[in-house]
Amino acid sequence: MAEQHPNTKTWSGLFSEPVDELVKRYTASVTFDQRMWAADIAGSRAHATMLARQKIIGAQDLTDIERGLAQIEEEIKAGKFNWSLDDEDVHLNIEKRLTALVGDAGKRLHTGRSRNDQVATDIRLYLRGEIDRIAQLIRALQLSLITVAEKNADTLMPGFTHLQVAQPVTFGHHLLAYFEMLDRDHARLADVRKRVNRLPLGAAALAGTTYPIDREFVAKELGFDGVCENSLDAVSDRDFAIEFLAAASLIMTHISRLSEELILWMSPRFAFVRVADRFCTGSSIMPQKKNPDVPELARGKTGRVNGHLVALLTLMKGQPLAYNKDNQEDKEPLFDTVDTLSDTLTIFADMVASITVNAENMKKAALEGFSTATDLADYLVKKGLPFRDAHEVVARAVRHASGLGLDLAQVPLADLQGFSPLITETVYDVLTLDGSAASRNHIGGTAPAQVRAALNRARERIKA
Ligand code: ARG
Repeated sequence: MAEQHPNTKTWSGLFSEPVDELVKRYTASVTFDQRMWAADIAGSRAHATMLARQKIIGAQDLTDIERGLAQIEEEIKAGKFNWSLDDEDVHLNIEKRLTALVGDAGKRLHTGRSRNDQVATDIRLYLRGEIDRIAQLIRALQLSLITVAEKNADTLMPGFTHLQVAQPVTFGHHLLAYFEMLDRDHARLADVRKRVNRLPLGAAALAGTTYPIDREFVAKELGFDGVCENSLDAVSDRDFAIEFLAAASLIMTHISRLSEELILWMSPRFAFVRVADRFCTGSSIMPQKKNPDVPELARGKTGRVNGHLVALLTLMKGQPLAYNKDNQEDKEPLFDTVDTLSDTLTIFADMVASITVNAENMKKAALEGFSTATDLADYLVKKGLPFRDAHEVVARAVRHASGLGLDLAQVPLADLQGFSPLITETVYDVLTLDGSAASRNHIGGTAPAQVRAALNRARERIKA
């Protein structure tokens, strides 16, 4: 064996001086990509098994590789594995240790493989597992929304447009809007997963390999739906990661919108809801305050995840085929997104379940903005008045009520009849908050009966 310089790298045969210390740190990824160790070992096991089946390596080599990888797995799990910057990344760290443990068989593992197809495989395996976990977390948050919506199928609150009181809605209906957003998020992740779940291995550095490999076998071993068709694309494609980040940005955007509403609803001006104290903090100077830190942070972290999406799009836009080291920069944004999204979803599932409402304040607010004005217009239309004329009548009635400091439902019948002779005693059935909500009684409407039906369907949908 040739003399080894202490700084000697796995690929250093061609080089005449050791890598500069700062450059070593600058180019290494092991400090962060070690989190893909399980995927790296799984990929190596499948690759080695294929090499032995194809008689590219011997049966004994496979046995040795399997034994070595099993030991490495134990060492990593026990926190005893010595990750070294000298070995650059997760792939070389594991390979180096394998060779130290089992000798030449370890050196044969990389036959017909490159780190370029290896890293692409590892990211896909890692991300597939995370997508499955995150999909479960979305379901948990959807279930919390259902639970609170069920308790509030009849709870009336003002629905807003332009943040101005518009029409009464039920709080259950409002929460189910977020259920829908999350349901699309869940479906989007399932769709992304299809494109994640393709095997790059076999592309080798970029052009394929001269060995008689069996890519379909490796794909099956690793649970992939199939292989990446083109070797150049296989090693350079990060679309799947960008798609995941786009889906993650949308999930965070939905959570951010909910956060904004919670922040408003929790403010003493609204005082619509409370969440459990464990999600709030106090102020170090103002003893009276209870701050909605969790929703505020979630709103803030949405910016961070959106940033990661832009980072990856920018990372890719100037790269010629095939692999470039730029790609190593895909990992930190991806990992941080996975962590941020997982924590946010986990906390929100718990926090949303803890929501309690102040139904009295919600109702009071709904009574403040003439939220049943549209109902009066609809009432007149049903009696034959063209909608535009009805709109005009109601506008005048609202102005009158406003002058008296009354809600429409409190204006005497005689006064209302002054605006239109079509108005009779039955008008009060539609002018109350309950009447208004109950009359929006069709699929997708806010009537409590519809909310209950939607809740039943929602429960079924998240079982699938
Ligand atoms: N650590 C590298 C990455 O994350 C692995 C691939 C390196 N390949 C190479 N030829 N330098 O992309």
